[in-house]
Amino acid sequence: MTGAAPNERRGPFITFEGGDGVGKSTQIARLAERLRAAGREVVVTREPGGSPGAEAIRALLVQGAADRWSARTEALLMFAARADHLERTINPARARGAVVLCDRFADSSMAYQGIAGALGREAVATLGALIVGADGPTLTFVLDASSQEGLKRAGARGDGDNRFEAKGAEYQERVRQAFLEIAKGAPERCVVINAARDIDTIADDIARITFERLGAA
Ligand code: TYD
Repeated sequence: MTGAAPNERRGPFITFEGGDGVGKSTQIARLAERLRAAGREVVVTREPGGSPGAEAIRALLVQGAADRWSARTEALLMFAARADHLERTINPARARGAVVLCDRFADSSMAYQGIAGALGREAVATLGALIVGADGPTLTFVLDASSQEGLKRAGARGDGDNRFEAKGAEYQERVRQAFLEIAKGAPERCVVINAARDIDTIADDIARITFERLGAA
Protein backbone atom coordinates (compact mmCIF):
# COMPACT_ATOMS: atom_id res chain seq x y z
CA MET A 1 0.00 0.00 0.00
CA THR A 2 1.16 3.49 -0.76
CA GLY A 3 -0.22 6.26 1.47
CA ALA A 4 -2.33 7.75 -1.30
CA ALA A 5 -6.09 7.29 -1.32
CA PRO A 6 -7.57 6.00 -4.56
CA ASN A 7 -8.56 8.80 -6.88
CA GLU A 8 -12.29 8.56 -6.17
CA ARG A 9 -11.56 9.00 -2.46
CA ARG A 10 -9.52 12.18 -2.92
CA GLY A 11 -10.64 14.58 -0.20
CA PRO A 12 -12.86 17.55 -1.04
CA PHE A 13 -11.19 20.91 -1.64
CA ILE A 14 -13.40 23.75 -0.39
CA THR A 15 -12.43 27.39 -0.97
CA PHE A 16 -13.76 30.59 0.57
CA GLU A 17 -13.71 33.71 -1.56
CA GLY A 18 -14.92 37.30 -1.34
CA GLY A 19 -13.69 40.84 -0.83
CA ASP A 20 -11.46 41.92 2.04
CA GLY A 21 -12.99 41.55 5.49
CA VAL A 22 -16.15 39.59 4.60
CA GLY A 23 -15.51 37.13 7.45
CA LYS A 24 -13.94 34.20 5.62
CA SER A 25 -11.55 33.12 8.38
CA THR A 26 -14.31 33.02 11.02
CA GLN A 27 -16.47 30.87 8.77
CA ILE A 28 -13.59 28.55 7.91
CA ALA A 29 -12.93 27.98 11.63
CA ARG A 30 -16.62 27.22 12.22
CA LEU A 31 -16.83 24.74 9.36
CA ALA A 32 -13.58 23.06 10.41
CA GLU A 33 -15.04 22.53 13.88
CA ARG A 34 -18.18 20.90 12.51
CA LEU A 35 -16.33 18.67 10.08
CA ARG A 36 -13.95 17.51 12.81
CA ALA A 37 -16.90 16.81 15.11
CA ALA A 38 -18.23 14.59 12.29
CA GLY A 39 -14.96 12.66 12.31
CA ARG A 40 -13.29 14.15 9.23
CA GLU A 41 -9.63 15.09 9.01
CA VAL A 42 -9.53 18.80 8.12
CA VAL A 43 -6.62 20.87 6.83
CA VAL A 44 -7.15 24.65 7.09
CA THR A 45 -4.97 26.76 4.85
CA ARG A 46 -4.88 30.11 3.07
CA GLU A 47 -3.62 32.01 0.06
CA PRO A 48 -1.39 33.68 -0.69
CA GLY A 49 0.56 31.26 1.50
CA GLY A 50 -0.27 27.86 2.98
CA SER A 51 3.20 26.25 2.69
CA PRO A 52 6.59 27.56 3.83
CA GLY A 53 7.63 28.63 0.33
CA ALA A 54 4.27 30.21 -0.42
CA GLU A 55 4.31 32.09 2.89
CA ALA A 56 7.69 33.59 1.93
CA ILE A 57 6.16 34.77 -1.36
CA ARG A 58 3.14 36.11 0.58
CA ALA A 59 5.39 38.52 2.47
CA LEU A 60 6.45 40.02 -0.86
CA LEU A 61 2.84 40.37 -1.94
CA VAL A 62 1.07 41.85 1.07
CA GLN A 63 3.68 44.38 2.23
CA GLY A 64 4.78 47.61 0.61
CA ALA A 65 3.18 50.25 -1.59
CA ALA A 66 0.00 49.51 -3.54
CA ASP A 67 1.95 49.93 -6.82
CA ARG A 68 4.91 47.78 -5.74
CA TRP A 69 4.13 45.16 -8.44
CA SER A 70 2.63 45.38 -11.89
CA ALA A 71 -0.53 43.34 -12.38
CA ARG A 72 1.45 40.79 -14.40
CA THR A 73 4.20 40.35 -11.83
CA GLU A 74 1.67 40.19 -9.03
CA ALA A 75 -0.24 37.42 -10.80
CA LEU A 76 2.95 35.44 -11.43
CA LEU A 77 3.88 35.69 -7.75
CA MET A 78 0.39 34.53 -6.76
CA PHE A 79 0.60 31.54 -9.08
CA ALA A 80 4.16 30.71 -8.01
CA ALA A 81 2.92 30.62 -4.41
CA ARG A 82 -0.10 28.56 -5.52
CA ALA A 83 2.04 25.95 -7.30
CA ASP A 84 4.04 25.38 -4.12
CA HIS A 85 0.88 25.36 -2.00
CA LEU A 86 -0.73 22.70 -4.21
CA GLU A 87 2.40 20.53 -4.29
CA ARG A 88 3.29 20.73 -0.62
CA THR A 89 0.00 21.15 1.24
CA ILE A 90 -3.25 20.76 -0.70
CA ASN A 91 -2.63 17.74 -2.93
CA PRO A 92 -0.94 15.62 -0.25
CA ALA A 93 -3.80 16.34 2.19
CA ARG A 94 -6.44 15.41 -0.38
CA ALA A 95 -4.53 12.26 -1.30
CA ARG A 96 -4.95 11.08 2.32
CA GLY A 97 -8.68 11.81 2.10
CA ALA A 98 -8.61 14.97 4.25
CA VAL A 99 -11.00 17.87 3.66
CA VAL A 100 -9.04 20.99 2.67
CA LEU A 101 -10.53 24.37 3.61
CA CYS A 102 -8.73 27.25 1.94
CA ASP A 103 -9.06 31.00 2.52
CA ARG A 104 -8.87 32.26 -1.09
CA PHE A 105 -7.58 30.42 -4.16
CA ALA A 106 -7.41 30.99 -7.93
CA ASP A 107 -10.78 32.80 -8.05
CA SER A 108 -9.06 35.59 -6.10
CA SER A 109 -6.49 35.94 -8.88
CA MET A 110 -9.30 36.12 -11.42
CA ALA A 111 -11.21 38.69 -9.35
CA TYR A 112 -8.31 40.89 -8.18
CA GLN A 113 -5.78 40.64 -11.01
CA GLY A 114 -7.93 39.46 -13.93
CA ILE A 115 -11.21 41.37 -13.63
CA ALA A 116 -10.76 44.26 -11.14
CA GLY A 117 -7.05 44.63 -11.96
CA ALA A 118 -5.28 45.30 -15.22
CA LEU A 119 -4.28 41.80 -16.32
CA GLY A 120 -7.47 40.61 -17.98
CA ARG A 121 -9.44 37.40 -17.71
CA GLU A 122 -7.62 35.48 -20.43
CA ALA A 123 -4.14 35.74 -18.93
CA VAL A 124 -5.37 34.59 -15.52
CA ALA A 125 -7.35 31.73 -17.08
CA THR A 126 -4.21 30.63 -18.93
CA LEU A 127 -2.15 30.64 -15.74
CA GLY A 128 -4.95 28.75 -13.97
CA ALA A 129 -5.03 26.05 -16.63
CA LEU A 130 -1.25 25.69 -16.44
CA ILE A 131 -0.76 25.72 -12.66
CA VAL A 132 -4.05 24.46 -11.20
CA GLY A 133 -5.45 22.28 -13.97
CA ALA A 134 -7.65 19.54 -12.50
CA ASP A 135 -6.49 20.25 -8.91
CA GLY A 136 -8.95 23.10 -8.34
CA PRO A 137 -11.67 23.37 -5.70
CA THR A 138 -14.66 21.03 -5.65
CA LEU A 139 -16.82 23.61 -3.83
CA THR A 140 -16.42 27.38 -3.43
CA PHE A 141 -18.27 29.68 -1.06
CA VAL A 142 -18.35 33.28 -2.29
CA LEU A 143 -19.00 35.44 0.78
CA ASP A 144 -20.78 38.51 -0.46
CA ALA A 145 -21.10 41.74 1.52
CA SER A 146 -20.88 45.42 0.66
CA SER A 147 -17.28 46.49 0.18
CA GLN A 148 -17.71 49.33 2.70
CA GLU A 149 -18.62 46.86 5.43
CA GLY A 150 -15.68 44.65 4.43
CA LEU A 151 -13.12 47.47 4.48
CA LYS A 152 -14.33 48.55 7.91
CA ARG A 153 -13.74 45.04 9.29
CA ALA A 154 -10.42 44.58 7.49
CA GLY A 155 -9.17 47.95 8.79
CA ALA A 156 -10.26 47.10 12.32
CA ARG A 157 -8.01 44.03 12.27
CA GLY A 158 -4.94 46.27 12.03
CA ASP A 159 -2.58 43.47 10.98
CA GLY A 160 -0.39 45.77 8.87
CA ASP A 161 -0.77 43.54 5.81
CA ASN A 162 -2.72 46.25 4.10
CA ARG A 163 -1.18 46.60 0.65
CA PHE A 164 -4.38 45.38 -1.02
CA GLU A 165 -6.76 47.17 1.31
CA ALA A 166 -4.90 50.40 0.43
CA LYS A 167 -6.35 50.24 -3.07
CA GLY A 168 -9.60 51.89 -1.99
CA ALA A 169 -13.37 51.44 -1.89
CA GLU A 170 -14.01 51.73 -5.62
CA TYR A 171 -11.56 48.90 -6.34
CA GLN A 172 -13.14 46.78 -3.59
CA GLU A 173 -16.55 47.24 -5.21
CA ARG A 174 -15.11 46.06 -8.53
CA VAL A 175 -13.74 43.02 -6.70
CA ARG A 176 -17.16 42.28 -5.24
CA GLN A 177 -18.77 42.39 -8.66
CA ALA A 178 -15.95 40.24 -10.07
CA PHE A 179 -16.64 37.45 -7.56
CA LEU A 180 -20.34 37.53 -8.42
CA GLU A 181 -19.45 37.21 -12.10
CA ILE A 182 -17.16 34.24 -11.38
CA ALA A 183 -19.87 32.52 -9.32
CA LYS A 184 -22.41 33.01 -12.08
CA GLY A 185 -20.03 31.41 -14.58
CA ALA A 186 -19.46 28.30 -12.44
CA PRO A 187 -22.80 27.57 -10.73
CA GLU A 188 -22.03 23.87 -10.20
CA ARG A 189 -19.02 24.76 -8.03
CA CYS A 190 -19.80 28.18 -6.51
CA VAL A 191 -22.38 29.09 -3.88
CA VAL A 192 -22.91 32.79 -3.10
CA ILE A 193 -23.48 33.38 0.61
CA ASN A 194 -25.02 36.60 1.91
CA ALA A 195 -22.30 37.60 4.39
CA ALA A 196 -24.15 40.62 5.77
CA ARG A 197 -26.05 38.35 8.22
CA ASP A 198 -25.05 37.19 11.69
CA ILE A 199 -22.15 34.78 12.01
CA ASP A 200 -24.20 31.80 13.30
CA THR A 201 -26.75 31.98 10.47
CA ILE A 202 -23.99 32.10 7.86
CA ALA A 203 -22.16 29.19 9.54
CA ASP A 204 -25.37 27.09 9.54
CA ASP A 205 -25.88 27.72 5.80
CA ILE A 206 -22.30 26.80 4.97
CA ALA A 207 -22.35 23.63 7.07
CA ARG A 208 -25.67 22.47 5.59
CA ILE A 209 -24.45 22.94 2.02
CA THR A 210 -21.10 21.29 2.75
CA PHE A 211 -22.64 18.20 4.37
CA GLU A 212 -25.15 17.91 1.50
CA ARG A 213 -22.25 17.89 -0.98
CA LEU A 214 -20.15 15.47 1.08
CA GLY A 215 -23.12 13.16 1.36
CA ALA A 216 -23.53 13.16 -2.39
CA ALA A 217 -19.82 12.57 -3.03
P1 TYD B 1 -5.89 37.82 2.56
O1 TYD B 1 -4.79 37.70 3.54
O2 TYD B 1 -6.81 36.67 2.38
O3 TYD B 1 -6.72 39.13 2.95
P2 TYD B 1 -8.17 39.22 3.59
O4 TYD B 1 -8.09 38.53 4.89
O5 TYD B 1 -8.36 40.69 3.71
O6 TYD B 1 -9.11 38.59 2.66
O7 TYD B 1 -5.30 38.18 1.14
C1 TYD B 1 -4.46 39.28 0.99
C2 TYD B 1 -4.83 40.04 -0.24
O8 TYD B 1 -4.38 39.36 -1.42
C3 TYD B 1 -6.32 40.26 -0.39
O9 TYD B 1 -6.57 41.64 -0.51
C4 TYD B 1 -6.64 39.57 -1.69
C5 TYD B 1 -5.35 39.51 -2.43
N1 TYD B 1 -5.20 38.40 -3.39
C6 TYD B 1 -5.07 38.68 -4.74
O10 TYD B 1 -5.08 39.84 -5.16
N2 TYD B 1 -4.90 37.65 -5.63
C7 TYD B 1 -4.85 36.35 -5.22
O11 TYD B 1 -4.70 35.42 -6.05
C8 TYD B 1 -5.00 36.07 -3.82
C9 TYD B 1 -4.94 34.65 -3.32
C10 TYD B 1 -5.17 37.13 -2.94
